[in-house]
Amino acid sequence: MDRLELTPIDLRGAEKIKGDVAAFARQPNGGLFVTTSARATAQRELIIALAAQHRLPAMYPYRYWASGGGLLSYGPDPTDNYRRAADYIDPILRGEDLSRFLATAEPDAVHGQQLFSERCAACHALDANKTGPMLGAIFGRKSGSVPGYTYSPALAEAGISWSADNLDRASRKPSLPTDRRRPGSKAGMNATSVAESRIYATGGVL
Ligand code: HEC
Repeated sequence: MDRLELTPIDLRGAEKIKGDVAAFARQPNGGLFVTTSARATAQRELIIALAAQHRLPAMYPYRYWASGGGLLSYGPDPTDNYRRAADYIDPILRGEDLSRFLATAEPDAVHGQQLFSERCAACHALDANKTGPMLGAIFGRKSGSVPGYTYSPALAEAGISWSADNLDRASRKPSLPTDRRRPGSKAGMNATSVAESRIYATGGVL
C-alpha cells in the first residue's frame, strides 16, 4: 500500500470541525473516515455537508449517514436491528414459547461453555458427579441413570431420554423432575432459560 497518513479531526464543537476539515481538505488526495463516535454522530449533518463542500470522499459508520446524504457507510443499520428486535421481544412479552427461534439458532460452543461455567458448573462437572450428576455425554442418556449418583425418586423414576427437546422442556416446565419447585426434586434447573439450555445442547457442551 502507498503511504497512508492519519490526520485526526477535533470533534469538540462545530467551529473546530469546520476548521480542521478545511485545513485537511487543502492537502491533496484526502478522504474522511468517520468512526462510531457520539461526538461525530451529534455533528452528523455538518460533517456530511463539509465533506460535500470540500469534495472529500467519505466513509461513515452507519447506514443513516449514507441515507442522510453521505457517500458510503461501512457498518450495519442499527435502526433496522431495533425494528427486528421487536419480532423477538413481542412473543416474549406475550409469554410465547421461543423454540421456533431456537430451532434455527446457530450452535455457539463458546457462549455455551461460558453459560455452563456461570450457571451449571457450581453443581455439575462433565466428567464426575458433584452436587448434581455428571453431565458429559448426556444426549440420548436415560434420566437419573449416572452410576454412583443418588437421585431424587422423582428423577430416578422419570424415564426421560435426554434429547435437546427434553432438556429445553426440563429447563422451563416446573412439572419435570429436575425442577426444584416440584415436590420430590432434589435440585433445580429452573433458573435456566430455554434459550440457555438450547445453547448448551447445540453448542455440544453437554
Ligand atoms: C444448585 C445446583 C445445581 C445447578 C446450579 C444446576 N444443577 Fe442440574 N442438577 C442438580 C441436581 C442436584 C440434580 C439431580 C436432581 C434430582 O436427582 O432430582 C441435577 C440434575 C440435572 C440433570 C439431569 C441429569 C440426569 O442424569 O438425569 C440435568 C440434565 C441437569 N441437571 C442440567 C443442568 C444444567 C444444564 C444446569 C445449568 C444450566 C444445571 N443443571 C444447574 C443440581 C444443579
